[in-house]
Amino acid sequence: MLLEKLSYLLGLCALAAGTILQNGQVRTTNYPDTRIDISSYDFRTYDANATELSYKGRWDSKKVSWWSAPGLVFGFTGNTVAITFGELTTDTTLVGYRVGGMDWIFAGATHLLVTPSTPGINETYPINPLTFELRVTNWAYGVQIDKVHVAAGESLTRIPPYGRTVEFIGDSLSSGMYTSYEGLSSFAYGVGAGLGDTEYYVTAYPGICVSDQECWGNRRGQVHQWFYTSDTSGRAAEIWGDDPEPWDFQKQETTPGIVIINLGTNDNNAANNVSTETYVDAYKNLIRGVHGKYPKAQVIVMQLWMGFYQYGNTYQQNLGYEQELKDIVSYFNSDAYLSAPSIWDGTTNMTTVLDAPSEPFVHYFSTKGIMQHNDIGPLWHPTDVGAIKVASHLTQFIKLTFGWDLVATGSEIFHDTLYWNDQQNY
Ligand SMILES: *[C@@H]1O[C@H](CO)[C@@H](O)[C@H](O)[C@H]1NC(C)=O
Ligand SMILES: *[C@@H]1O[C@H](CO)[C@@H](O)[C@H](O)[C@H]1NC(C)=O
Ligand SMILES: *[C@@H]1O[C@H](CO)[C@@H](O)[C@H](O)[C@H]1NC(C)=O
Ligand SMILES: *[C@@H]1O[C@H](CO)[C@@H](O)[C@H](O)[C@H]1NC(C)=O
Repeated sequence: MLLEKLSYLLGLCALAAGTILQNGQVRTTNYPDTRIDISSYDFRTYDANATELSYKGRWDSKKVSWWSAPGLVFGFTGNTVAITFGELTTDTTLVGYRVGGMDWIFAGATHLLVTPSTPGINETYPINPLTFELRVTNWAYGVQIDKVHVAAGESLTRIPPYGRTVEFIGDSLSSGMYTSYEGLSSFAYGVGAGLGDTEYYVTAYPGICVSDQECWGNRRGQVHQWFYTSDTSGRAAEIWGDDPEPWDFQKQETTPGIVIINLGTNDNNAANNVSTETYVDAYKNLIRGVHGKYPKAQVIVMQLWMGFYQYGNTYQQNLGYEQELKDIVSYFNSDAYLSAPSIWDGTTNMTTVLDAPSEPFVHYFSTKGIMQHNDIGPLWHPTDVGAIKVASHLTQFIKLTFGWDLVATGSEIFHDTLYWNDQQNY
C-alpha cells in the first residue's frame, strides 16, 4: 500500500505512484487506492497508544516505525479498519497488510484498509476474532500511527504475542535491500514469519557496520545503535537529531529466544577502513550486549557471503572475516569466557563480569553452498530467490539446533513469488 500523509487526505498533493522494478523493468502492480475522506464515515476511533494495539519491532514514543519490517497487529470486529497515518509518515512508503492469514495486500491520511471485500473478512475460523496485521516494507521509510478506526459499534481487541521470538541484528542483507518488497522479501522476515507463531524483530539497516564508526553514511555502528529505538537513517536524524531514544528492552513486547547476527560485510569493505581488531572487539561487545539484555537468548553468528566471482571456468564464493567469526564463536564457548562471562551495557566502554556462570549460547551458521552466483543481484544482494534459500536453510537450522518446530499452516510468507509453468509438451 502506498501511503500518503494526511496532507494527501486533505487534497494538498497529487497521488504518487509506487513502482517496483524487476530486472530493470517496471513490475505491473495494482495497488488499491485506499485513501478516504474520513468525514463521510461513521467510525469508532482509537488513539495510537490504545492498549489493544500491539507494535512489533521498534517504534518510538511518537509511534513512528524504525528499522526493517516493523509491524502493527490487533483484533477487530466488524468488517472495516482504517488507519490515519501521522505527519511523520514518509510519503510513498509501501506497507503490506492483511487480515488473518490471507495474502498480503499492498495499496497506495486515513486509509480504509479493510472493507467487506477484503479476502478473508467473512470467515470466522480458525482465527477469531479476525486479526489485522500491517508491516512496513521499505527499510528507508516509516509510518507514524495516529489513529485506528473501526465501524461505529465495533471494537478492537488486543492479540497476545506468540510465545517464540527471533531477532535479527544486521545490515542491508538482513533488511532486504534490493529484493522486491525489501523488508517483506528479506531472509530475516522469511525466517521470522516462516517459523510460524513467532514474533520477529529485524533490527537491521543498510550500510551499517558492527564497529561503532561511520560506514556508508551511517554515523554509528550496531554495537551502539542496537541499544536505540531508531535506526541510522537520515529520517532518524531529522526526527531525533543527536538524541535518539534509548530502546527500552524492559517494555519490549517479548524477549527473543534466538538472536541472529549478520554483520561485517560493511566493516570488511576497504572504503570504511575498519581494522580487523576493531571489528572483532565490536562484534564481541554486541554479543555481550545481547547476552546482557536477553540472558537466556541463543545467538547465531552467520558466516558472511561477499558475493561470487568467476574462478577459471566456474564460480567461487567470497568470504569475509572467515576465521575471525569462527574464533568469536570459539571464544564464547571457551572455558575462559564461560568461567567469567561478561556483558556490555552499550553506553560506556565497560563490560561487567557476571556472577553466575553462563552456559554456551553462541552458535555458528555456515552459509556455504546455500546460494549460487545467480542468487546475488547486480548490486551484490540476494535476489528474492536467494533470500528464500537463505531463509529456508536458516529456518531448518533453527529447527534442528533448538527444536523449534515449523508450525506455519500455509498462509503466505513471500508475496509475488508464485512462478509456475502450466503448459506441457512445449
Ligand atoms: C494515550 O495518550 C493520551 C494523550 O496523549 C492519554 O490521555 C491517554 O491516557 C493515553 N492512553 C493510554 C492507554 O495510555
Ligand atoms: C462478504 O459478505 C458480503 C455480504 O454477503 C459480500 O458482499 C462480500 O462480497 C463478502 N466478501 C468476501 C471477501 O467474500
Ligand atoms: C584508515 O585507518 C588507518 C589506521 O587508523 C589510518 O592511518 C588511515 O589514515 C585511515 N585511512 C582513511 C582513508 O581514513
Ligand atoms: C570510552 O572510550 C573512548 C575512546 O577510547 C573514551 O574517549 C571515553 O572516555 C571512554 N568512556 C568511558 C566511559 O570509559
